[in-house]
Amino acid sequence: MLNHFNRDTGNIVVLTGAGISAESGLKTFRDNNGLWENHRVEEVATPEAFAANPELVYRFYNVRRQQLLSDEVQPNAAHFALAELEQALGSRLTIVTQNVDNLHERAGNKNVIHMHGELTKVKCVKTGESIFTNKDIDEQTQCACCNPAQRMRPDIVWFGEMPYEMDRIEELLYNAELFVSIGTSGNVYPAAGFVRAASQFGAYCVELNLEPSAGSRLFDETKHGPATQVVSEFVRSLV
Ligand code: OAD
Repeated sequence: MLNHFNRDTGNIVVLTGAGISAESGLKTFRDNNGLWENHRVEEVATPEAFAANPELVYRFYNVRRQQLLSDEVQPNAAHFALAELEQALGSRLTIVTQNVDNLHERAGNKNVIHMHGELTKVKCVKTGESIFTNKDIDEQTQCACCNPAQRMRPDIVWFGEMPYEMDRIEELLYNAELFVSIGTSGNVYPAAGFVRAASQFGAYCVELNLEPSAGSRLFDETKHGPATQVVSEFVRSLV
């Protein structure tokens, strides 16, 4: 792999999914018979669910946010290893994460794209203007951008909605010498298609996951094991 990456000039795109945060105590999506914290995805992660039962959806993300900000959830060795990699490579490393947690930032990474939104942000239902919050929100929470004020919603990309910053991500994939996918099952597009794009653009592609993902055969190299172990080893081999 080192033959495929120039440490002095190469760009890396790291795609992360729920698996990198599993050892921090956050549940992945497709464990537990496809239930996410005891809910079917369609109950809590679609615009239709929000329209039909806003109270449930607000409560669901309030609980996720409280859990994320509790002392029990901390970045793990895999997050810290990627922070070390950013220290070594600076802006040549970009993390594109499907995760809505803030564990990459808390480990020290700055160059992070949250393509599926963030638990610590909420946005106006009308303008989409997004603000930071560490508090619960509900139907009474109002935006500051409209007159009359509008409702706020979790700043999460739900199924059927367009992920954020796709143009920028495509450009990063185009310029990447190395593409590394960590802790994602490869079931949800467009992220699941990044390996194919990166590969076509000429990047060397590495998968680090507990088990082979849906697109495992598309990678040039795979390492299977817990993220705290395989990501730390991988970063050590690079810097
Ligand atoms: P998934 O739950 O689909 O997949 C998690 C992957 O992580 C699986 O392949 C597990 O084998 C692996 N895994 C579990 N524990 C691990 C560990 N300790 N170390 C390494 N790997 C581990 O989660 P995502 O692929 O992130 O979208 O799911 C993609 C998207 O689907 C999410 O962003 C979310 C969801 O619905 C939205 O909310 C829009």
